[in-house]
Amino acid sequence: VQSTGGNVTGKFGHPYGYGFLHEDINNSGDGGIYAELIQNRAFQYSPRFPVSTEHWFPLNGAQLSVQFLNDPLSKSLPASLRVTATNKTGECGFENDGYWGIDVRQQKYTGSFWVKGTYNGSFTATLKSNLTAEVFGSVEVQAKTNANEWVQHEFELIPEKNAPNSNNTFAITFDSTATGNGTLDFNLISLFPPTYKNRKNGLRVDIAEALAEMNPHFLRFPGGNMLEGLTNDTHWDWKDTLGPLKDRPGFQGVWGYQQTHGLGIMEYLEWAEDMDLQIVVGVWAGLALNGDVTPEEDLQPYIEDALNEIEFIRGDPNTPWGSKRAELGHPEPFELNYVEIGNEDWLAGYPGGWDSYRQYRLQNFYEAIHAKYPDIQVIASGATSDPAPEGATTGPNTKEGIDFTRTPGVIGDYHPYREPDELVQEFDRFDNDIGHIIGEVAATHVNGATPPRWDGPLYKYPWWIGAVGEAVSLIGYERNSDRIPGTFYAPVLKNENRFQWPITLIQFTADPKQTTRAVTWYCWSLFAHHPISHTLPTTSNSTYGPLYWGAGKDESRQGAFVWKGAVYNTTDGSDVPVSVHFEGSQSGSRASLTVLTNSAGDPYAYNSPFTNVNIVNTTKVELTASDDGAFHFELPELSVAVLDTDVE
Ligand code: AHR
Repeated sequence: VQSTGGNVTGKFGHPYGYGFLHEDINNSGDGGIYAELIQNRAFQYSPRFPVSTEHWFPLNGAQLSVQFLNDPLSKSLPASLRVTATNKTGECGFENDGYWGIDVRQQKYTGSFWVKGTYNGSFTATLKSNLTAEVFGSVEVQAKTNANEWVQHEFELIPEKNAPNSNNTFAITFDSTATGNGTLDFNLISLFPPTYKNRKNGLRVDIAEALAEMNPHFLRFPGGNMLEGLTNDTHWDWKDTLGPLKDRPGFQGVWGYQQTHGLGIMEYLEWAEDMDLQIVVGVWAGLALNGDVTPEEDLQPYIEDALNEIEFIRGDPNTPWGSKRAELGHPEPFELNYVEIGNEDWLAGYPGGWDSYRQYRLQNFYEAIHAKYPDIQVIASGATSDPAPEGATTGPNTKEGIDFTRTPGVIGDYHPYREPDELVQEFDRFDNDIGHIIGEVAATHVNGATPPRWDGPLYKYPWWIGAVGEAVSLIGYERNSDRIPGTFYAPVLKNENRFQWPITLIQFTADPKQTTRAVTWYCWSLFAHHPISHTLPTTSNSTYGPLYWGAGKDESRQGAFVWKGAVYNTTDGSDVPVSVHFEGSQSGSRASLTVLTNSAGDPYAYNSPFTNVNIVNTTKVELTASDDGAFHFELPELSVAVLDTDVE
């Protein structure tokens, strides 16, 4: 490994980035990293997901119905919950079972609900067992209701004890004899536990910590398919996600459930800020998943919308959208260096979607963004290798996919969801190509899977052989990091109760004890914890395979040398002897060697949230260079390793 001729990674002064795409899939946002505990809190709905009382249950003979009042809580939240006491002799109310349970502990819960109606009494907010009705904690909330307007009631609740499991509910009850006519209207009933970095409307602590512990450098949002929307009329509109929760209408999610918009653009940006992440913001580019394409003559408003979104994120507080951000509590611009135009335009709505991307959508967006923000790295939503789909006939370079020569400086986005073997074959994929982000990558199919490759009992969690296959491809991407700024795992989170996309980095339920880092999390985490600011040329007397490697140095750690390696498919299963000589290292030089292996043996072993067993074995030793100045060690079959001279 030589220290001369090293290429600086990226162009924005951050190290090579390991990160993730987050979109709301698998209830990874609502019911996931967004800490809200109440499901269906504001009776939001869309054409695809009708309004309902789902997740709400009556108590003591109350009747629950959804109403569209003439004077709703807000234009954005037109539906509300009517609670009518049938038994007019005492307490009645309703309860919510959360996102498949509620974690109840002795900690401060912060709640709020809006009420309309006449009531001279108090409400009781309670956290209790769904199995035994045992009350873990409750609080009286003095009513300040009014027959003619919606009034917010806020409260704090600290349970007296921890619940033994997460099969719990949150209830609100009131004295029906103290109401005007036995009826009250409720809306936006919300309950939060403590959040990551104590943000209001913030992130669930254990999930955010599991992500932060990976030492990520990149967050790509809001999708993925979620950005595109099911139709052009229902794409993810960032403006709908701003400000007070009562002004957020919710989003017709693309993954089979209604979304709250609670995790909005400000929350994404604060998430990035709290974890010190570079962001890749996807702007909507006139194509939806059903193939709706916006014609060129109608595109300009969306281009302006993208410019406004960028201004909202990084504009000076004196600009129109920068001032809106300041109003929302963040006068300082957020850092934004990467903007992606659309998502996977080669996949949805072809041939029209793809053709229009090449003909005008990519170029028109790019030119407008580049003219106003020349420093922004614009990213196209496809890779140089993404094929022109069957039937695409029009546009320049039709058969060759995106014509990057028409948008100089634009880099691509590559999404390899592959078998482990295929990822290993990707090792040199970017040795001779223009820049790309690897905006979505994961080992999703078992080796030799027959189409459709998603079926079978192994499609539950990432397995070890997939993690090592990914590690090989990650090394391949990172050694081209002068052109490849970063790699993103996707999708990143899964609530076990919404099984849509099995291969994710972190799995969870309502019970934080089940929050589980997949085997692949350990490889990404290892690589991310040894960042490089420069790639380094390497010479070797071996060819790649079964050992794959790459090297770099990190200026922020006094030029520490880093070597990353993985062993995949030895012919006879024996350990691979490795000698690494860093330029300048001599007898007695020191380096730490971390090696990850699979303690379960089976290459398809995985970490399950239901066993609490981590099959990834991590060993870390300090090595001393021999008389030849090299570090000598052996790596077993299916192992991932990092050698780093920063041993302090
Ligand atoms: O990561 C899951 C999906 O895979 C994304 O939404 C989409 O971009 C890709 O096809």
